[in-house]
Amino acid sequence: MCGIVGYIGNREAFPILMKGLHRLEYRGYDSAGVALINSNGELGVYKAKGKVSDLETFVSDKDVTGNIGIAHTRWATHGEPCQENAHPHYSSNGRLAIIHNGIIENYMEIKKHLIECGFIFRSDTDTEVLVQLIQYVQDTENVSLVSAVQLALKQVIGAYAIAVLDKEQPEQIIAARKSSPLVIGIGDDEYFLASDAMPIVEYTKRVIYVEDDTIAVIRKGDALRILDLNNVEHNPEVKHVELSIGQLEKGGFPHFMLKEIFEQPQCIANCMKGRISQDLGEVKLSSVIDYKERLLGAHRFIILACGTSWHAGLIGKYLLESMCHVPVEVEYASEFRYRDPVITPNDVVIAISQSGETADTLAALKLAKKKGAFIYGICNAVGSSIPRETDTGSYIHVGPEIGVASTKAFTGQVTVLTLLALALAKEKGTISNVAYQKIIRELDAIPEKMQEVLKQNDAIADLSKIFTYAHNLIYLGRGYCYPVALEGALKLKEISYIHAEGYPAAEMKHGPIALIDAEMPVVVIATHNTLYEKIVSNIQEVKARKGKIIALVTKGDTVVSKLADHVIELPSTLECLDPLITTIPLQLLGYHVAVHKGKDVDQPRNLAKSVTVE
Ligand code: G6P
Repeated sequence: MCGIVGYIGNREAFPILMKGLHRLEYRGYDSAGVALINSNGELGVYKAKGKVSDLETFVSDKDVTGNIGIAHTRWATHGEPCQENAHPHYSSNGRLAIIHNGIIENYMEIKKHLIECGFIFRSDTDTEVLVQLIQYVQDTENVSLVSAVQLALKQVIGAYAIAVLDKEQPEQIIAARKSSPLVIGIGDDEYFLASDAMPIVEYTKRVIYVEDDTIAVIRKGDALRILDLNNVEHNPEVKHVELSIGQLEKGGFPHFMLKEIFEQPQCIANCMKGRISQDLGEVKLSSVIDYKERLLGAHRFIILACGTSWHAGLIGKYLLESMCHVPVEVEYASEFRYRDPVITPNDVVIAISQSGETADTLAALKLAKKKGAFIYGICNAVGSSIPRETDTGSYIHVGPEIGVASTKAFTGQVTVLTLLALALAKEKGTISNVAYQKIIRELDAIPEKMQEVLKQNDAIADLSKIFTYAHNLIYLGRGYCYPVALEGALKLKEISYIHAEGYPAAEMKHGPIALIDAEMPVVVIATHNTLYEKIVSNIQEVKARKGKIIALVTKGDTVVSKLADHVIELPSTLECLDPLITTIPLQLLGYHVAVHKGKDVDQPRNLAKSVTVE
């Protein structure tokens, strides 16, 4: 969703801002804009619908000089994607420019008042209301910009990360945050500002994650000041970011998504590193060691997540229930937060999020925390909002995920959930030593088995051609592979825009079977496990209705291989680890169908990587 970049220092701001916007493109957006103050103190604002490259073309004959500027990618919420609605927005007097990520919920009410006071609005956005409100406060209260921002934000309900330029103060950017991400990079006599560290790491590794309800006064040549809305000074903690530039580039792959699919063996190895000792035959998670009593005392786990992370959560339920014998509920964070869920202090909530910024997941965990639950986070983006709100947790350590369709984060989440279930089950005594050791040994083999699956990339690319003109697909799986079917269907629809549904294979009889005919491809996960015979029957049911079967089978399979129209053979693994293997061919299938259809794989239409509004 909306991305924010800012720069103040001695260099030309524009190239830094544009590079920063490109680094944030992965978040999803539909228009872009930039505001700069040049050496004559003139404030220039340029905006374009479409991609950052469209903005670059648009400004090619404009003055984009200056050592201070802010830039933005917009993902439309209030008002269609068009030049007028793109950020930055001006104040009526042309003195201020603002960029914003989030939603000002009470904007209608404020707008009405400002219109009565004579303000004229040029866009349909909630953001423009905020900049006009800041001007109104400046005018009526006759205060500094810092005070005007503080006073204006006190009137605002909603979420925001903002950056404001004032052409009367060309050596200063004011930024503020509430529930939307904002990072400040500290260079030598220069500052960078962004929605995440990706646009910053090229210049400095020293960052400050701005806290909720605080504002940053960023002045060239001065120390950074962080204040709250009541003007109380806060001491910001400077952190070191580990990201490297190589992690932010495609590294020879045509798309980030393909790169990230291929990174999975290494990612999973990284994720397990230091957490599994093959010599001692044990799993050690620091969070479980540190909070043993609290976690072992859980009467129930509630997993909160959205999208792909929710699918990982479903697998977590299977893992935790079968290994730890504790009831687990998996909830869409967006539903959970607006119910009145029954939570007790004996509940442990597991919040799963790749970005660590998903607004619904963040709000849901805050609600659970308020009701006394203990919060465990499973996230990828280090230093993001969700890990900062949790009591403890485990990072998945798969590196930045840039393709909008989540791939390596999913397998990383499933790996951490497996380690968590194993560590807790061992402490609880709910798993036999034989089973525990067997899973640990097999986990060690997973990266190599993933590698084996990836060798079939070309064959899967060929196979995917038959789907290019399909309008609907069904994905079926059972047990641990039912969430994999959901995830496979999601991958396909996200990037190729083909309608696909994931179903528990047996449930197909209760509806989707009506859709099956000779035109309908059905992808079935039919690896060798305890439900194999059952899924064979489900395949027969599809075949009897002339559906086209594409089956994922275990190497050496003879039964399903004969029934299916197309087969992808996979290395065998333990049933509880099946998702780590079976997900990969479905990611590749989704990817290649989208490529054949000529779709924008890494930035599919309408989607955002980091969903920072609810
Ligand atoms: C968006 C992304 C998905 C992701 C979901 C949850 O919809 O496009 O890939 O699964 O948000 O995001 P999170 O960062 O919380 O895992």
